[in-house]
Amino acid sequence: MNENPMVPDLSHPDENDRRALSGVAMMGRAVTPGEIDTSHGAILYLEDVTVSFDGFRALNALSLSIDVGELRCIIGPNGAGKTTMMDVITGKTSPDSGKVFLGQTIDLTRMNEPSIARAGIGRKFQKPTVFEQHPVWENLELAMKTDKGWLASLRARLDRGAQARIEETLSLIRLEGEARRPAGELSHGQKQRLEIGMLLMQQPALLLLDEPAAGMTDDETMELAALLNHLRGTCSMMVVEHDMEFVAALAGDAGKVTVMAEGRVLAQGTLDEVKRDAAVVESYLGR
Ligand SMILES: Nc1ncnc2c1ncn2[C@@H]1O[C@H](COP(=O)(O)OP(=O)(O)OP(=O)(O)O)[C@@H](O)[C@H]1O
Ligand SMILES: [Mg+2]
Repeated sequence: MNENPMVPDLSHPDENDRRALSGVAMMGRAVTPGEIDTSHGAILYLEDVTVSFDGFRALNALSLSIDVGELRCIIGPNGAGKTTMMDVITGKTSPDSGKVFLGQTIDLTRMNEPSIARAGIGRKFQKPTVFEQHPVWENLELAMKTDKGWLASLRARLDRGAQARIEETLSLIRLEGEARRPAGELSHGQKQRLEIGMLLMQQPALLLLDEPAAGMTDDETMELAALLNHLRGTCSMMVVEHDMEFVAALAGDAGKVTVMAEGRVLAQGTLDEVKRDAAVVESYLGR
């Protein structure tokens, strides 16, 4: 029985609820960025990271660093190792060798997926994973409360601060008008924004987004770019994407873009600079 109409009734979770639950349970409570030592300016630091699958090097001495507050776009051909890199950062895949640090001191290679999520790294997968049967508002509520365990969170009453945060997030992801609608009724673009909102409820220090614009209409894509641009500075972001208009909207004239190919960084610079790079044209953009 669900006596409090403000909390979702997940006493009989369906298949989709289970998937969404495993996603938010993974996140746990994020530490505030202040707890991560970014005194040298980097939120994320990878050095000489190698990952082999049956002898094939998906990552080949990859070195990369993201500044705190930065929104970094990563581009590169299929198979370049972009998703594998995110797998390594989030603890899904252990590297054969190399360093992976959150800030100066948090060695991610020694941590498992849940503890990396709790340390402040949120990850958005390509397919939106939300609680389809439950209203948008409850999706955000549930995402915020997983530090107490999701069962406890269902029983917990919302305090005013929490309500305010949900409202803020709703307006940020531009779903104020959809708060009471079941998430399953949302469009693909709205679901993607909801999932980003769910990640934001955890106050991540670093957000990883793997092809967030895939499958979106042009309008949804530009709306997503506006959202991420708006978030700039509140958390650091790494965005992997093939849609070059989306990348242009995020990188602007001065933002740094990293081009990966064959498991390592091929080029890095402003979008204009990498577009003019002969090796980049050869391996990716010129195709
Ligand atoms: N679990 C795995 N087992 C074996 N090979 C894998 C595994 N995961 C990735 N690979 C291989 O590693 C390489 C890098 O894959 P990855 O998915 O990281 O590329 P990507 O840059 O994300 O590509 P895309 O743009 O297509 O998403 C590919 O050749 C892929 O086939
Ligand atoms: Mg990929």
